[in-house]
Amino acid sequence: MKRSVHALILAAGKGTRFKSEKIKVLHSLMGKSMIQIVLDSVSRLKPEKIHIIVGYQKDAVKAETSGDHMHCVEQKEQKGTGHAVLSAKSALRKEGDKDLLVMNGDLPLIRTETLRPFLKFHQKMNNSLTFMTSEPENPFGFGRVFKTEKGGFFVIEEKDATPEQKKIKEVNVGIYLFNIKDLFRALPKISNNNKKGEFYLTDIVEIMSLEGMKVGKFKTENREEVVGVNDRFELALAADVLRKRKIESLTSSGVTVYDPKTTWIDFDVKVGRDSILYPSVILEGKTVIGSHCKIYPFSHIIDSKIGDRTKVLTSSMVEMSTLEKDVQIGPFTRLRPNSILKQGARVGNFVEMKNTVFGKGSKAGHLSYLGDSEIADDVNIGAGTICCNYDGENKNKTIIEEGAFIGSGVELVAPVKVGKKAYVGAGSTITKNVSPGSLAVERGKQIEKKDWTKKGKK
Ligand code: UD1
Ligand code: CA
Repeated sequence: MKRSVHALILAAGKGTRFKSEKIKVLHSLMGKSMIQIVLDSVSRLKPEKIHIIVGYQKDAVKAETSGDHMHCVEQKEQKGTGHAVLSAKSALRKEGDKDLLVMNGDLPLIRTETLRPFLKFHQKMNNSLTFMTSEPENPFGFGRVFKTEKGGFFVIEEKDATPEQKKIKEVNVGIYLFNIKDLFRALPKISNNNKKGEFYLTDIVEIMSLEGMKVGKFKTENREEVVGVNDRFELALAADVLRKRKIESLTSSGVTVYDPKTTWIDFDVKVGRDSILYPSVILEGKTVIGSHCKIYPFSHIIDSKIGDRTKVLTSSMVEMSTLEKDVQIGPFTRLRPNSILKQGARVGNFVEMKNTVFGKGSKAGHLSYLGDSEIADDVNIGAGTICCNYDGENKNKTIIEEGAFIGSGVELVAPVKVGKKAYVGAGSTITKNVSPGSLAVERGKQIEKKDWTKKGKK
Protein backbone atom coordinates (compact mmCIF):
# COMPACT_ATOMS: atom_id res chain seq x y z
CA MET A 1 0.00 0.00 0.00
CA LYS A 2 1.10 3.56 -0.70
CA ARG A 3 2.57 5.22 2.37
CA SER A 4 1.05 8.51 3.31
CA VAL A 5 3.16 11.58 2.83
CA HIS A 6 3.69 14.91 4.53
CA ALA A 7 5.23 17.91 2.84
CA LEU A 8 7.60 20.52 4.12
CA ILE A 9 8.28 23.76 2.26
CA LEU A 10 11.30 25.89 3.07
CA ALA A 11 10.25 29.51 3.12
CA ALA A 12 12.15 31.14 5.96
CA GLY A 13 15.01 32.71 4.03
CA LYS A 14 14.94 36.37 3.13
CA GLY A 15 16.06 35.96 -0.45
CA THR A 16 18.92 38.43 -0.25
CA ARG A 17 19.56 38.33 -3.98
CA PHE A 18 16.11 39.85 -4.58
CA LYS A 19 17.27 43.10 -2.96
CA SER A 20 13.74 43.62 -1.72
CA GLU A 21 12.01 44.76 1.43
CA LYS A 22 9.67 41.83 0.93
CA ILE A 23 10.62 38.21 1.49
CA LYS A 24 11.30 36.37 -1.76
CA VAL A 25 8.49 33.81 -1.55
CA LEU A 26 5.85 36.53 -1.33
CA HIS A 27 6.80 38.04 -4.67
CA SER A 28 4.15 37.35 -7.28
CA LEU A 29 4.15 35.70 -10.65
CA MET A 30 1.05 35.99 -12.82
CA GLY A 31 -1.03 37.25 -9.95
CA LYS A 32 -0.07 34.67 -7.36
CA SER A 33 2.67 34.63 -4.74
CA MET A 34 5.56 32.25 -5.32
CA ILE A 35 4.76 30.30 -2.15
CA GLN A 36 1.11 29.96 -3.13
CA ILE A 37 2.06 28.57 -6.52
CA VAL A 38 4.33 26.01 -4.87
CA LEU A 39 1.62 25.09 -2.36
CA ASP A 40 -0.91 24.60 -5.16
CA SER A 41 1.37 22.11 -6.92
CA VAL A 42 2.18 20.27 -3.71
CA SER A 43 -1.45 20.23 -2.53
CA ARG A 44 -2.49 18.28 -5.60
CA LEU A 45 -0.34 15.39 -4.30
CA LYS A 46 -2.75 15.29 -1.37
CA PRO A 47 -0.23 15.19 1.46
CA GLU A 48 -1.65 14.73 4.94
CA LYS A 49 -0.27 18.06 5.97
CA ILE A 50 1.96 20.75 4.48
CA HIS A 51 4.42 22.20 6.96
CA ILE A 52 5.82 25.56 5.99
CA ILE A 53 9.07 26.72 7.52
CA VAL A 54 8.74 30.42 8.23
CA GLY A 55 11.21 32.90 9.66
CA TYR A 56 11.93 36.20 7.93
CA GLN A 57 8.63 38.18 7.77
CA LYS A 58 6.94 35.17 9.30
CA ASP A 59 3.60 36.84 9.94
CA ALA A 60 3.17 37.83 6.32
CA VAL A 61 4.11 34.34 5.14
CA LYS A 62 1.76 32.78 7.69
CA ALA A 63 -1.10 34.97 6.50
CA GLU A 64 -0.45 33.94 2.92
CA THR A 65 -0.32 30.22 3.66
CA SER A 66 -3.18 29.70 6.05
CA GLY A 67 -5.70 27.01 5.25
CA ASP A 68 -6.65 23.41 5.75
CA HIS A 69 -3.71 21.05 6.02
CA MET A 70 -1.28 23.97 6.29
CA HIS A 71 0.92 24.26 9.32
CA CYS A 72 3.61 26.88 9.83
CA VAL A 73 6.74 26.09 11.82
CA GLU A 74 9.09 28.82 12.86
CA GLN A 75 12.82 28.71 12.20
CA LYS A 76 14.00 31.41 14.59
CA GLU A 77 17.31 32.09 12.92
CA GLN A 78 18.07 31.28 9.32
CA LYS A 79 21.09 29.06 9.65
CA GLY A 80 20.63 27.12 6.46
CA THR A 81 18.33 24.64 4.75
CA GLY A 82 19.35 21.72 6.99
CA HIS A 83 18.70 23.78 10.10
CA ALA A 84 15.33 24.77 8.63
CA VAL A 85 14.23 21.16 8.28
CA LEU A 86 15.43 20.41 11.79
CA SER A 87 13.05 23.04 13.16
CA ALA A 88 10.15 20.82 12.09
CA LYS A 89 11.42 17.86 14.08
CA SER A 90 8.94 18.09 16.92
CA ALA A 91 6.04 18.67 14.52
CA LEU A 92 6.94 15.53 12.58
CA ARG A 93 8.37 13.25 15.24
CA LYS A 94 5.20 11.23 15.59
CA GLU A 95 4.94 10.54 11.88
CA GLY A 96 7.79 7.98 11.95
CA ASP A 97 7.36 5.65 9.01
CA LYS A 98 5.65 8.07 6.69
CA ASP A 99 7.37 9.93 3.89
CA LEU A 100 8.20 13.59 3.78
CA LEU A 101 8.50 15.68 0.64
CA VAL A 102 10.92 18.52 1.38
CA MET A 103 11.03 21.33 -1.11
CA ASN A 104 12.62 24.72 -1.47
CA GLY A 105 9.98 27.45 -1.55
CA ASP A 106 11.54 29.11 -4.57
CA LEU A 107 10.55 26.55 -7.20
CA PRO A 108 7.35 28.00 -8.65
CA LEU A 109 7.60 26.10 -11.92
CA ILE A 110 7.34 22.61 -10.51
CA ARG A 111 4.20 20.79 -11.62
CA THR A 112 2.37 18.08 -9.74
CA GLU A 113 2.84 15.89 -12.82
CA THR A 114 6.57 15.96 -12.15
CA LEU A 115 6.28 15.38 -8.40
CA ARG A 116 3.98 12.38 -8.78
CA PRO A 117 6.40 9.97 -10.53
CA PHE A 118 9.09 11.12 -8.12
CA LEU A 119 6.98 10.05 -5.15
CA LYS A 120 6.06 6.82 -6.86
CA PHE A 121 9.72 6.02 -7.53
CA HIS A 122 10.72 6.78 -3.96
CA GLN A 123 8.04 4.56 -2.52
CA LYS A 124 8.68 1.76 -4.97
CA MET A 125 12.41 1.78 -4.15
CA ASN A 126 11.65 2.01 -0.46
CA ASN A 127 14.44 4.56 -0.10
CA SER A 128 15.38 6.45 3.04
CA LEU A 129 16.08 9.40 0.78
CA THR A 130 15.42 10.13 -2.87
CA PHE A 131 16.54 13.49 -4.19
CA MET A 132 15.60 15.00 -7.50
CA THR A 133 18.30 16.00 -9.95
CA SER A 134 18.46 17.53 -13.40
CA GLU A 135 20.96 18.67 -16.01
CA PRO A 136 20.23 22.33 -16.60
CA GLU A 137 21.82 24.22 -19.46
CA ASN A 138 23.68 26.30 -16.95
CA PRO A 139 24.40 24.56 -13.64
CA PHE A 140 25.73 27.74 -12.01
CA GLY A 141 24.44 28.20 -8.46
CA PHE A 142 23.25 24.63 -8.00
CA GLY A 143 24.76 21.94 -5.79
CA ARG A 144 26.57 19.34 -7.95
CA VAL A 145 25.84 15.65 -7.55
CA PHE A 146 28.56 12.99 -7.06
CA LYS A 147 28.62 9.25 -6.43
CA THR A 148 30.34 7.75 -3.40
CA GLU A 149 32.45 4.65 -3.87
CA LYS A 150 29.82 2.48 -2.26
CA GLY A 151 27.02 3.51 -4.56
CA GLY A 152 25.68 6.35 -2.47
CA PHE A 153 25.76 10.06 -3.34
CA PHE A 154 26.96 13.41 -2.09
CA VAL A 155 26.34 17.02 -3.07
CA ILE A 156 28.81 19.87 -3.21
CA GLU A 157 27.44 23.40 -3.20
CA GLU A 158 28.56 25.87 -5.88
CA LYS A 159 30.40 27.98 -3.31
CA ASP A 160 32.36 25.02 -1.97
CA ALA A 161 33.10 23.36 -5.29
CA THR A 162 36.50 23.34 -6.98
CA PRO A 163 36.65 24.47 -10.62
CA GLU A 164 36.94 20.80 -11.57
CA GLN A 165 33.84 19.86 -9.54
CA LYS A 166 31.90 22.73 -11.05
CA LYS A 167 32.17 21.04 -14.43
CA ILE A 168 29.71 18.37 -13.28
CA LYS A 169 26.43 18.90 -15.08
CA GLU A 170 24.02 16.98 -12.86
CA VAL A 171 22.63 19.12 -10.06
CA ASN A 172 20.52 18.88 -6.96
CA VAL A 173 17.27 20.75 -7.59
CA GLY A 174 16.13 21.18 -3.98
CA ILE A 175 13.31 18.59 -3.88
CA TYR A 176 13.70 15.58 -1.62
CA LEU A 177 11.70 12.65 -0.31
CA PHE A 178 12.65 11.20 3.04
CA ASN A 179 11.54 8.48 5.32
CA ILE A 180 10.75 10.68 8.31
CA LYS A 181 12.40 8.49 10.94
CA ASP A 182 15.64 8.16 8.97
CA LEU A 183 15.67 11.87 8.21
CA PHE A 184 15.65 12.90 11.84
CA ARG A 185 18.16 10.23 12.74
CA ALA A 186 20.67 11.60 10.26
CA LEU A 187 19.90 15.32 10.33
CA PRO A 188 21.58 16.19 13.66
CA LYS A 189 24.85 15.00 12.15
CA ILE A 190 25.19 17.79 9.63
CA SER A 191 27.61 20.57 10.48
CA ASN A 192 28.16 24.10 9.29
CA ASN A 193 31.72 23.53 8.30
CA ASN A 194 31.55 25.14 4.85
CA LYS A 195 32.13 28.44 3.03
CA LYS A 196 28.77 29.91 4.02
CA GLY A 197 28.88 28.67 7.61
CA GLU A 198 25.38 27.26 7.17
CA PHE A 199 23.82 23.91 7.95
CA TYR A 200 23.23 22.56 4.46
CA LEU A 201 20.40 20.11 3.98
CA THR A 202 22.38 18.77 1.05
CA ASP A 203 24.98 17.29 3.41
CA ILE A 204 22.44 14.74 4.49
CA VAL A 205 22.79 12.99 1.16
CA GLU A 206 26.32 11.96 2.04
CA ILE A 207 25.56 11.28 5.69
CA MET A 208 22.72 8.91 4.89
CA SER A 209 24.78 7.25 2.18
CA LEU A 210 27.69 6.65 4.56
CA GLU A 211 25.37 5.29 7.22
CA GLY A 212 24.27 2.66 4.74
CA MET A 213 20.76 4.01 4.36
CA LYS A 214 19.19 3.56 0.97
CA VAL A 215 19.74 6.77 -0.97
CA GLY A 216 18.61 7.20 -4.56
CA LYS A 217 18.34 9.98 -7.08
CA PHE A 218 15.55 10.72 -9.47
CA LYS A 219 16.62 12.64 -12.52
CA THR A 220 13.87 14.66 -14.13
CA GLU A 221 13.87 15.51 -17.81
CA ASN A 222 11.61 18.49 -17.10
CA ARG A 223 14.54 20.69 -16.33
CA GLU A 224 12.61 23.86 -17.05
CA GLU A 225 10.48 23.15 -13.98
CA VAL A 226 13.25 22.89 -11.46
CA VAL A 227 15.11 26.14 -11.84
CA GLY A 228 15.10 28.03 -8.58
CA VAL A 229 14.14 31.68 -8.50
CA ASN A 230 16.96 33.43 -6.73
CA ASP A 231 16.88 36.96 -8.17
CA ARG A 232 14.47 39.17 -10.03
CA PHE A 233 15.75 38.22 -13.43
CA GLU A 234 14.96 34.59 -12.65
CA LEU A 235 11.58 35.79 -11.39
CA ALA A 236 10.90 37.35 -14.78
CA LEU A 237 12.02 34.21 -16.60
CA ALA A 238 9.81 32.04 -14.41
CA ALA A 239 6.83 34.34 -14.94
CA ASP A 240 7.34 33.97 -18.66
CA VAL A 241 7.18 30.19 -18.42
CA LEU A 242 3.96 30.36 -16.38
CA ARG A 243 2.52 32.86 -18.84
CA LYS A 244 3.10 30.50 -21.75
CA ARG A 245 1.53 27.64 -19.82
CA LYS A 246 -1.56 29.72 -19.16
CA ILE A 247 -1.86 30.74 -22.79
CA GLU A 248 -1.43 27.16 -23.89
CA SER A 249 -4.21 26.03 -21.60
CA LEU A 250 -6.53 28.79 -22.89
CA THR A 251 -5.79 28.20 -26.56
CA SER A 252 -6.32 24.48 -26.13
CA SER A 253 -9.74 25.21 -24.67
CA GLY A 254 -10.78 27.29 -27.67
CA VAL A 255 -9.54 30.83 -27.10
CA THR A 256 -7.65 32.66 -29.86
CA VAL A 257 -4.55 34.51 -28.72
CA TYR A 258 -3.04 36.43 -31.63
CA ASP A 259 0.29 37.15 -30.02
CA PRO A 260 1.28 34.88 -27.15
CA LYS A 261 4.48 36.86 -26.63
CA THR A 262 2.74 40.03 -25.52
CA THR A 263 -0.37 38.65 -23.83
CA TRP A 264 -0.37 38.50 -20.02
CA ILE A 265 -3.03 36.51 -18.28
CA ASP A 266 -3.04 35.80 -14.55
CA PHE A 267 -3.45 32.28 -13.16
CA ASP A 268 -7.07 32.62 -12.09
CA VAL A 269 -8.41 34.38 -15.18
CA LYS A 270 -11.04 32.52 -17.19
CA VAL A 271 -11.77 33.12 -20.86
CA GLY A 272 -14.67 31.55 -22.74
CA ARG A 273 -14.59 29.73 -26.05
CA ASP A 274 -14.15 31.59 -29.33
CA SER A 275 -13.09 34.77 -27.62
CA ILE A 276 -10.20 36.58 -29.27
CA LEU A 277 -7.38 38.28 -27.46
CA TYR A 278 -5.44 40.77 -29.59
CA PRO A 279 -1.76 41.56 -28.98
CA SER A 280 -0.69 43.29 -25.77
CA VAL A 281 -3.74 42.46 -23.73
CA ILE A 282 -3.38 42.13 -19.95
CA LEU A 283 -5.97 40.22 -17.95
CA GLU A 284 -5.45 40.25 -14.22
CA GLY A 285 -6.77 38.86 -10.97
CA LYS A 286 -10.09 37.06 -10.99
CA THR A 287 -11.21 38.36 -14.37
CA VAL A 288 -13.77 36.23 -16.18
CA ILE A 289 -14.33 36.78 -19.90
CA GLY A 290 -17.29 35.16 -21.60
CA SER A 291 -17.39 33.50 -25.00
CA HIS A 292 -17.19 35.22 -28.40
CA CYS A 293 -15.67 38.33 -26.84
CA LYS A 294 -13.04 40.44 -28.54
CA ILE A 295 -10.44 42.16 -26.45
CA TYR A 296 -8.49 44.56 -28.64
CA PRO A 297 -4.86 45.67 -28.24
CA PHE A 298 -3.47 47.34 -25.12
CA SER A 299 -6.55 46.71 -23.03
CA HIS A 300 -6.00 46.04 -19.36
CA ILE A 301 -8.72 44.26 -17.41
CA ILE A 302 -8.50 43.65 -13.68
CA ASP A 303 -10.85 41.60 -11.49
CA SER A 304 -13.78 42.15 -13.84
CA LYS A 305 -16.54 40.18 -15.51
CA ILE A 306 -17.10 40.49 -19.22
CA GLY A 307 -20.25 38.97 -20.72
CA ASP A 308 -20.55 36.99 -23.94
CA ARG A 309 -19.99 38.78 -27.25
CA THR A 310 -18.75 41.93 -25.56
CA LYS A 311 -16.05 43.98 -27.26
CA VAL A 312 -13.38 45.92 -25.46
CA LEU A 313 -11.82 48.17 -28.08
CA THR A 314 -8.23 49.34 -28.13
CA SER A 315 -6.52 50.79 -25.05
CA SER A 316 -9.30 50.47 -22.53
CA MET A 317 -8.86 49.89 -18.82
CA VAL A 318 -11.45 48.03 -16.79
CA GLU A 319 -11.13 47.58 -13.06
CA MET A 320 -13.44 45.64 -10.72
CA SER A 321 -16.37 46.15 -13.04
CA THR A 322 -19.03 44.14 -14.80
CA LEU A 323 -19.86 44.31 -18.48
CA GLU A 324 -22.88 42.25 -19.41
CA LYS A 325 -23.49 40.59 -22.76
CA ASP A 326 -23.16 42.46 -26.06
CA VAL A 327 -21.59 45.53 -24.54
CA GLN A 328 -19.02 47.59 -26.40
CA ILE A 329 -16.51 49.92 -24.81
CA GLY A 330 -13.53 51.90 -26.07
CA PRO A 331 -11.31 52.78 -27.65
CA PHE A 332 -9.83 54.54 -24.62
CA THR A 333 -12.56 53.88 -22.09
CA ARG A 334 -11.70 53.85 -18.43
CA LEU A 335 -13.97 51.91 -16.10
CA ARG A 336 -13.05 52.34 -12.47
CA PRO A 337 -14.33 50.05 -9.69
CA ASN A 338 -18.00 49.26 -9.48
CA SER A 339 -19.07 50.17 -12.96
CA ILE A 340 -21.85 47.93 -14.18
CA LEU A 341 -22.70 48.11 -17.86
CA LYS A 342 -25.91 46.34 -18.69
CA GLN A 343 -26.57 44.34 -21.78
CA GLY A 344 -26.02 46.13 -25.07
CA ALA A 345 -24.59 49.31 -23.50
CA ARG A 346 -22.04 51.32 -25.48
CA VAL A 347 -19.38 53.45 -23.93
CA GLY A 348 -16.87 55.13 -26.15
CA ASN A 349 -13.79 57.28 -26.50
CA PHE A 350 -12.38 58.91 -23.42
CA VAL A 351 -15.28 58.11 -21.15
CA GLU A 352 -14.46 57.55 -17.49
CA MET A 353 -16.92 55.78 -15.26
CA LYS A 354 -16.91 54.93 -11.57
CA ASN A 355 -19.43 53.38 -9.21
CA THR A 356 -22.12 53.63 -11.80
CA VAL A 357 -24.85 51.44 -13.15
CA PHE A 358 -25.28 52.06 -16.86
CA GLY A 359 -28.52 50.67 -18.24
CA LYS A 360 -29.37 48.33 -21.08
CA GLY A 361 -28.74 49.81 -24.48
CA SER A 362 -27.63 53.15 -23.04
CA LYS A 363 -24.91 55.07 -24.82
CA ALA A 364 -22.12 57.41 -23.80
CA GLY A 365 -20.06 57.85 -26.92
CA HIS A 366 -17.49 60.47 -26.11
CA LEU A 367 -15.50 62.39 -23.51
CA SER A 368 -17.58 62.06 -20.37
CA TYR A 369 -17.22 61.47 -16.64
CA LEU A 370 -19.98 59.41 -15.07
CA GLY A 371 -19.40 58.88 -11.36
CA ASP A 372 -21.67 57.71 -8.52
CA SER A 373 -24.60 57.57 -10.88
CA GLU A 374 -27.53 55.39 -11.73
CA ILE A 375 -28.29 55.54 -15.39
CA ALA A 376 -31.33 53.58 -16.52
CA ASP A 377 -31.99 51.83 -19.84
CA ASP A 378 -31.90 53.54 -23.24
CA VAL A 379 -30.35 56.74 -22.02
CA ASN A 380 -28.23 58.85 -24.34
CA ILE A 381 -25.34 60.71 -22.79
CA GLY A 382 -23.98 63.47 -25.03
CA ALA A 383 -20.32 64.23 -25.54
CA GLY A 384 -18.67 65.98 -22.64
CA THR A 385 -21.25 65.16 -19.97
CA ILE A 386 -19.93 65.45 -16.45
CA CYS A 387 -21.44 64.17 -13.24
CA CYS A 388 -20.29 66.71 -10.69
CA ASN A 389 -20.38 64.13 -7.92
CA TYR A 390 -18.07 65.69 -5.35
CA ASP A 391 -18.82 68.85 -3.47
CA GLY A 392 -15.55 68.92 -1.61
CA GLU A 393 -16.90 66.86 1.28
CA ASN A 394 -19.33 64.26 0.04
CA LYS A 395 -19.88 62.12 -3.00
CA ASN A 396 -23.39 62.69 -4.32
CA LYS A 397 -25.53 60.70 -6.64
CA THR A 398 -26.84 61.42 -10.13
CA ILE A 399 -29.94 59.55 -11.26
CA ILE A 400 -30.98 59.48 -14.89
CA GLU A 401 -34.19 57.67 -15.64
CA GLU A 402 -35.14 55.54 -18.60
CA GLY A 403 -35.00 56.99 -22.07
CA ALA A 404 -33.63 60.38 -20.99
CA PHE A 405 -31.47 62.37 -23.38
CA ILE A 406 -28.57 64.41 -22.10
CA GLY A 407 -27.22 66.88 -24.65
CA SER A 408 -23.54 67.58 -25.13
CA GLY A 409 -21.47 69.54 -22.67
CA VAL A 410 -23.85 69.09 -19.74
CA GLU A 411 -22.86 69.31 -16.10
CA LEU A 412 -25.09 67.43 -13.71
CA VAL A 413 -24.49 68.84 -10.26
CA ALA A 414 -25.30 66.03 -7.85
CA PRO A 415 -27.44 65.16 -6.02
CA VAL A 416 -29.73 65.51 -8.97
CA LYS A 417 -32.24 63.50 -10.95
CA VAL A 418 -33.32 63.61 -14.57
CA GLY A 419 -36.75 62.04 -15.05
CA LYS A 420 -37.96 59.48 -17.54
CA LYS A 421 -37.71 60.57 -21.19
CA ALA A 422 -36.68 64.09 -20.14
CA TYR A 423 -34.29 66.14 -22.29
CA VAL A 424 -31.42 68.28 -21.11
CA GLY A 425 -30.25 70.87 -23.60
CA ALA A 426 -26.62 71.04 -24.62
CA GLY A 427 -24.36 73.16 -22.48
CA SER A 428 -26.64 73.18 -19.43
CA THR A 429 -25.48 73.11 -15.85
CA ILE A 430 -28.24 71.21 -14.12
CA THR A 431 -28.63 71.83 -10.40
CA LYS A 432 -32.33 71.00 -9.95
CA ASN A 433 -34.25 67.82 -10.73
CA VAL A 434 -35.71 67.60 -14.19
CA SER A 435 -39.23 66.18 -14.27
CA PRO A 436 -40.16 63.30 -16.57
CA GLY A 437 -40.88 64.19 -20.17
CA SER A 438 -39.76 67.83 -19.92
CA LEU A 439 -36.90 69.75 -21.50
CA ALA A 440 -34.47 71.55 -19.23
CA VAL A 441 -32.12 74.15 -20.64
CA GLU A 442 -29.84 76.25 -18.51
CA ARG A 443 -27.81 78.63 -20.59
CA GLY A 444 -26.85 82.28 -20.69
CA LYS A 445 -28.51 84.16 -23.53
CA GLN A 446 -26.32 84.40 -26.58
CA ILE A 447 -25.48 87.97 -27.34
CA GLU A 448 -24.00 89.31 -30.51
CA LYS A 449 -22.00 92.46 -30.98
CA LYS A 450 -22.22 93.53 -34.59
CA ASP A 451 -19.10 94.63 -36.47
CA TRP A 452 -16.86 93.64 -33.53
CA THR A 453 -13.76 93.07 -35.71
CA LYS A 454 -14.08 96.37 -37.50
CA LYS A 455 -13.60 98.15 -34.16
CA GLY A 456 -10.00 96.94 -34.02
CA LYS A 457 -10.57 93.52 -32.45
CA LYS A 458 -9.31 90.55 -34.47
C1 UD1 B 1 19.72 25.09 -2.59
C2 UD1 B 1 20.58 23.83 -2.39
C3 UD1 B 1 21.33 23.51 -3.69
C4 UD1 B 1 20.35 23.36 -4.82
C5 UD1 B 1 19.46 24.60 -4.95
C6 UD1 B 1 18.37 24.33 -5.93
C7 UD1 B 1 21.22 23.85 -0.05
C8 UD1 B 1 22.32 24.09 0.91
N1 UD1 B 1 21.51 24.03 -1.33
O1 UD1 B 1 20.62 26.17 -2.81
O2 UD1 B 1 22.07 22.30 -3.54
O3 UD1 B 1 21.06 23.15 -6.03
O4 UD1 B 1 18.84 24.90 -3.68
O5 UD1 B 1 17.63 25.48 -6.22
O6 UD1 B 1 20.15 23.48 0.36
N2 UD1 B 1 15.69 28.58 3.60
C9 UD1 B 1 15.13 28.51 4.86
N3 UD1 B 1 15.93 28.67 5.95
C10 UD1 B 1 17.26 28.92 5.83
C11 UD1 B 1 17.82 28.99 4.55
C12 UD1 B 1 17.01 28.82 3.44
O7 UD1 B 1 13.94 28.29 5.01
O8 UD1 B 1 17.91 29.05 6.88
C13 UD1 B 1 14.83 28.40 2.44
C14 UD1 B 1 14.79 29.60 1.50
O9 UD1 B 1 13.75 30.49 1.87
C15 UD1 B 1 14.56 28.95 0.13
C16 UD1 B 1 15.12 27.55 0.29
O10 UD1 B 1 15.32 27.35 1.67
O11 UD1 B 1 13.18 28.86 -0.18
C17 UD1 B 1 16.43 27.37 -0.46
O12 UD1 B 1 17.37 28.31 -0.01
P1 UD1 B 1 18.36 29.04 -1.02
O13 UD1 B 1 19.21 29.93 -0.21
O14 UD1 B 1 17.62 29.60 -2.14
O15 UD1 B 1 19.26 27.78 -1.49
P2 UD1 B 1 20.16 27.73 -2.79
O16 UD1 B 1 21.37 28.53 -2.58
O17 UD1 B 1 19.34 28.02 -3.98
CA1 CA C 1 17.30 28.79 -4.32
